[in-house]
Amino acid sequence: MEMDRIPGSAIPPRLRYRAGRVPKFSCLSMARALPASSRIAMHSSVSETQSELRMFILGMGFVGQLLSYKLQNQGWVVSGTCTSHMKKKKLEDRGFHIYQFDALEPDCFCRLSILDHIKHYTHLLVSIPPIVGLGDPMLQHERLLRSSFVNGNLQWLCYLSSTTGVYGDCGGELVDEDYPPNPTSELAKLRLASEEGWSSLAHYLGISAYVFRLGGVYGPGRSAIETIMKQDSLSEAQKMRKYRKYTSRVHVEDICQAIMAAADALSLGKVYNIVDDDPAAREQVFEYARKLVEKKWPDLIKQEAQEVEWSDVKPTDMRGEKRVSNARMKDELGVRLLYPDFRTGLQSILDKMDTPCLQSRS
Ligand SMILES: NC(=O)c1ccc[n+]([C@@H]2O[C@H](COP(=O)([O-])OP(=O)(O)OC[C@H]3O[C@@H](n4cnc5c(N)ncnc54)[C@H](OP(=O)(O)O)[C@@H]3O)[C@@H](O)[C@H]2O)c1
Repeated sequence: MEMDRIPGSAIPPRLRYRAGRVPKFSCLSMARALPASSRIAMHSSVSETQSELRMFILGMGFVGQLLSYKLQNQGWVVSGTCTSHMKKKKLEDRGFHIYQFDALEPDCFCRLSILDHIKHYTHLLVSIPPIVGLGDPMLQHERLLRSSFVNGNLQWLCYLSSTTGVYGDCGGELVDEDYPPNPTSELAKLRLASEEGWSSLAHYLGISAYVFRLGGVYGPGRSAIETIMKQDSLSEAQKMRKYRKYTSRVHVEDICQAIMAAADALSLGKVYNIVDDDPAAREQVFEYARKLVEKKWPDLIKQEAQEVEWSDVKPTDMRGEKRVSNARMKDELGVRLLYPDFRTGLQSILDKMDTPCLQSRS
């Protein structure tokens, strides 16, 4: 197969740290060391191909997209995938090189030769979730991934996982990354298998392997504020979580901070919990969001709507109680949370809204 090789994609020796060799300069440090003019020049299509900092994002979802903007602003070349043509077009209009790619389609790798593109990047973020009944849609082709990447330029891999099910029921204990995982649901078992699969691939390639176990992800456009304002029906899963005493969450900005810190770290990688400081109950978060919205736009919310829904919920799901520790993320990656709790996070989301977003209100 003819490779669509990216010119200038050979990594300078100082960036290589396979087989235990640690780079003298980390990627972000090098970007910062560049004069501003060089960093700006990297945005042009010609110099993009010569950049030493290249992130490929498998799954340009909520986290992937915000990360793309942040990295691009720091001089990285960023490419990624999404499954729909419309989204591809939207992201391309914003200056990203996007591949339309659905790992469930037969022969998807051959048709797009996507692996031949990825191997020319230095960093790979995996944001495609496992699928119940199937497993990790990428790792089904693990042998192909290994043979494609083995002689490539990848130096760093980060898999975005979830805290929700991986630890299982911990009776409300404070769990850190050394707590033995005990997933019970099929999806949680698949998550753990994906973590292991991607870590094992990274070890085979001799590159940094990070696993980020995320709490519930929220941010502008996806938070309790929007749910309250749109008065969307709560999903069954959301209703089931009503009686949870603890729910880990994290603002998308803080996830991006952590990923960028890891990409800059001189380390071979590890598992990190990426959560904020306050695993508050979901009901508390919704009450707070409602008060914020009512204060800013009195009369916007129909009082009955969600209260009725909550009252229908029976306390059937008490599985998975735990408080997830973020100490390792703070100590080792040096992350200082922008939004240490849901109050600061929700307030900032509301502060950025000029008008209430009511598009999906029926
Ligand atoms: N949201 C949360 O509360 C939460 C909590 C913990 C962990 N996580 C996990 O963390 C990761 C990032 O979260 P997120 O909120 O950014 O997720 P997201 O917005 O749902 O993004 C997931 C990405 O995966 C892509 N994708 C899904 N199925 C695919 C398939 N069969 N083939 C190729 N691509 C596929 C999606 O494509 P499209 O862009 O075309 O949709 C999307 O880009 C995900 O794995 C998510 O499950 C999320």
